[in-house]
Amino acid sequence: ADEKRRLEDEIKAELKARNAVLVAHYYTDADIQRLAEETGGCVADSLEMARFGNQHPASTVVVAGVKFMGETAKILNPEKTVLMPTLEATCSLDVGCPADEFSAFCDAHPDRTVVVYANTSAAVKARADWVVTSSCAQSIVEHLDAQGEKILWAPDKHLGRYIERTTGADMLLWDGSCIVHEEFKARGVDDLKALYPDAAILVHPESPEAVVDMADVVGSTSQLIHAVQTLPNERFVVATDNGIFYKMQQLAPNKTLIEAPTAGNGATCRSCAHCPWMAMNGLENLLHVLRTGDQEIRVDEALREDALRPLRRMLDFTA
Ligand code: 13P
Ligand code: SF4
Repeated sequence: ADEKRRLEDEIKAELKARNAVLVAHYYTDADIQRLAEETGGCVADSLEMARFGNQHPASTVVVAGVKFMGETAKILNPEKTVLMPTLEATCSLDVGCPADEFSAFCDAHPDRTVVVYANTSAAVKARADWVVTSSCAQSIVEHLDAQGEKILWAPDKHLGRYIERTTGADMLLWDGSCIVHEEFKARGVDDLKALYPDAAILVHPESPEAVVDMADVVGSTSQLIHAVQTLPNERFVVATDNGIFYKMQQLAPNKTLIEAPTAGNGATCRSCAHCPWMAMNGLENLLHVLRTGDQEIRVDEALREDALRPLRRMLDFTA
């Protein structure tokens, strides 16, 4: 505990000395989220992280999350230094959508408006007309559909399928998925529902269709947190990364939160529903990068300008 306190104190001092702000995702460890809160940074979903980093006056933004979040911060803030505890923290959606293959896919369907999820590399964003996150995907696709546009969607097929069903838009889907949400099983959720009939089922739309179909609320991390605060239920089954429990429990201390099972028999294990890349963000590597300036995000300028356009569109649309 003393060692942890020492690390936290040093991180706080370094943040001040560097004029740096810490921006963390809800899936990072509780220690990181707490530090972001205590130091005037923010804990947020991917859309809010992008907006916060963009508006904050600090000269260095430290992004605790996964690489696409750091890249997004750099694309929006080329004049700022963007650091991450480790650049190795990637995302299975990003890895599963290489820019060259994606570009060929776009070339094969020139009649379609290209909409990509934020969980992609700068190079993939540079090929897109729009970037979306799970909190704004539906409204942006609705808007495009109303204009008669056909959509090419990448990379998350589950989120894509969900948006396709809720909007009725014509969507061609890339075949990608999140290794964390992919593991939630409808049968296990069903078992919990039988055990706790009063519980509300909260599901992130990166989950498989059968799980999404069981949800009382489908939404981004911030939308699911909002649901825990506002729904009258006392119990919630939560199908998303269990890092989110820190903020849910903080904002709704009297509610009972139950992890959705990641195995068909209803069994659950803490490490299953936790992103291995989010878990790479720790106090030690955070302090290291603050001291050394190591693990800095850099994005090629021409690429950055191309990736900025669809990102700006998203921020303007949701402003
Ligand atoms: P949101 O925070 O935008 O819901 O995204 C979830 C996610 O997968 C981030 O890795
Ligand atoms: Fe990517 Fe899934 Fe991890 Fe989010 S939880 S960063 S979508 S692998």
